[in-house]
Amino acid sequence: MASMRQLQQIIRAQKTSDGAGVSLYRSIGSSQGRVDPFLMLDEFSTENPDDYIAGFPAHPHRGFETVTYMIEGHMLHEDHLGNKGHLRSGDVQWMTAGRGIIHSEMPQQEQGAMRGFQLWINLPAVEKMKPAGYRDIASSTIPIVQAPGQPWVKVIAGDYDGVQGPIQGVSTQPLFIDVKLEPGMSFEQSLPAKHTAMVYVFEGELAATASLSQALPLKHAAVFGEGDQLCLQASTQGARFLLLAAMPLREPVVQYGPFVMNTREEIDQAIRDYQMGRLAA
Ligand code: FE2
Repeated sequence: MASMRQLQQIIRAQKTSDGAGVSLYRSIGSSQGRVDPFLMLDEFSTENPDDYIAGFPAHPHRGFETVTYMIEGHMLHEDHLGNKGHLRSGDVQWMTAGRGIIHSEMPQQEQGAMRGFQLWINLPAVEKMKPAGYRDIASSTIPIVQAPGQPWVKVIAGDYDGVQGPIQGVSTQPLFIDVKLEPGMSFEQSLPAKHTAMVYVFEGELAATASLSQALPLKHAAVFGEGDQLCLQASTQGARFLLLAAMPLREPVVQYGPFVMNTREEIDQAIRDYQMGRLAA
């Protein structure tokens, strides 16, 4: 028998800043707790260049994956492997830091809106030291499922309604979809019962449903308990949200800034490797 997912926790995004001074709304993250295997979710959403112009100059990562989803704007990624990727409106960058990557993420605009997300997904212990990998996924290659009177769904990772997103084969089996609902429209999704599942509202509001015991406002995340069915509905304003689900790793997490490992010793090693210029060697 199908079991309905139930609301477990609501997390309000906190305004913060990162990089060289980029304004962000952080929901999942170290100060508010992680939602295994998701380590962090940042939304950037501003029309004020002062909030983004400084960007993210060169910095390292080790031990996890970063997913950048650009809703509106233009950023340039450059890394020590020689990758250079332009992220424009609707594009996705999926980067596996693995044993190490050093990159910068800099805005390529001096005015106008900059909107999007960065999600950090943990890697299992056995994959933390694998070689770094990087993929740019153009918006035109990301499928959108849309029919009259039905939800608009952009499928970035995993499957929705039989449509496969471009990211497949990640061991935490992530589902990453962007969902737009007209006012009052319902949305149902079946999910592997034991996978972590959460939504983050970035336009409008979600109404209370069988899965969501209270309305979920803008810039709030809802984390759901186990179950194989998720049932959501837009409020009278409509709603747009990310639905994120993945297999939890249930491994110890030790984080030091941009390094996420399983033990303190591994973090010390990452810091030493970075200082000696062999983080990604
Ligand atoms: Fe980064």
